[in-house]
Amino acid sequence: MIQPHGSETLHPLFVYDVQRHHELQREAQGLPSVLLSSAAAANAVMLGAGYFNPLRGYMGAADALSVAERMHTTAGLFWPVPILNLTDEVTAIGGARRVALRDPNVEGRPVLAIQAIEAIETLTEEQLAFITRKLFRTEDPKHPGVATFRSLGRHCLSGPIEVLNFSYFQQDFPDTFRTAVEIRNEMQERGWRTVVAFQTRNPMHRAHEELCKMAREAVHADGVLIHMLLGQLKAGDIPAAVRDAAIRKMVEVYFPPNTVMITGYGFDMLYAGPREAVLHAVFRQNCGCSHLIVGRDHAGVGSFYGPFDAQQIFAEEVPKDALRIQIFGADNTAYSKKLNRVVMMRDAPDHGAEDFVQLSGTTVRELLAAGQQLPIEFARPEVAEILMRYYQLDQGQSEEGR
Ligand code: ADX
Repeated sequence: MIQPHGSETLHPLFVYDVQRHHELQREAQGLPSVLLSSAAAANAVMLGAGYFNPLRGYMGAADALSVAERMHTTAGLFWPVPILNLTDEVTAIGGARRVALRDPNVEGRPVLAIQAIEAIETLTEEQLAFITRKLFRTEDPKHPGVATFRSLGRHCLSGPIEVLNFSYFQQDFPDTFRTAVEIRNEMQERGWRTVVAFQTRNPMHRAHEELCKMAREAVHADGVLIHMLLGQLKAGDIPAAVRDAAIRKMVEVYFPPNTVMITGYGFDMLYAGPREAVLHAVFRQNCGCSHLIVGRDHAGVGSFYGPFDAQQIFAEEVPKDALRIQIFGADNTAYSKKLNRVVMMRDAPDHGAEDFVQLSGTTVRELLAAGQQLPIEFARPEVAEILMRYYQLDQGQSEEGR
């Protein structure tokens, strides 16, 4: 199986040793507390689960700036996105060397991890603006990732962490949430060596289904890892539980048995387009995938990124030997009325735009909200039905993404 990023074996930061776990829980009761932002909590979950191997904790200012600028830490590790614990509240820490990190997303705010404080640095406005620009390619506060990042605070708490649980993800998504360790183990058991990962934060329509099938065939993969984001989304995105149900139905009906693993990871969406695509590749390598599908507007939002920027960054900015995982770059994919099947547009050069069935996210939402069926060329009826139920029954109550 493909090696993890930056080390020969995976080093998840979750404390698997039961005695150590007990000791840390006891220690936490006497430590000063820091209430994490949701973003920093998600970072802890990813570190705990082994997805952010070989990082040992949160980055300091020098690493954050170095990663933002040139996608390498100061020690020379390739890494695309600063992994930070930013806060506005540091008075409770005083001079403590260790702190209990509390989970903002779970009732009672239990301790999620313990951090050894290496430094508390205050980032300047210029530094925060620089990181924002490099990471998101914009400072526009209308960009949801920018808005979140700029709301996190300016004190940067760096240092290694030991993780005590996986926040709400195990409880809310028991069948879907997996650590990188669990995914590697399951692939091993299945005897899968060549595995294509499909990143998603949306329900899967026919184009997505076909992308997975095309990629699997093209790279002769043993299987496809559908790996969905389970963390926080912007308002208007489909909640993870609805998406999970729709994806499960699609796989059950339309994929041959034992060719797909349906899994998810506990991270908040950054909407950072190209940089997030590279992070996606790093953590799919960590969970044992040989390939990652990167299609149109991967991890994008609105019109902040060009449709293929997330493919370009791999060709132009990721050094050749930085990652072992390979990218399966997909062109715009849609149902062809001429061929009566889903195709990548580059494979149908004689087609015009009118020969494809293409629906924007907004149109899809409008149709569902109005109780109108999605075209069967666009969505599988079983999937459309689940989405329709959500839009008709639940959506009025919860537009928010969890
Ligand atoms: S993402 O933010 O998680 O990337 P989404 O769930 O919509 O968003 O997309 C999942 C993957 O499918 C991404 O790699 C994206 O580029 C790709 N994709 C989505 N729709 C299409 C399409 N019509 N054609 C080609 N690729 C697509």
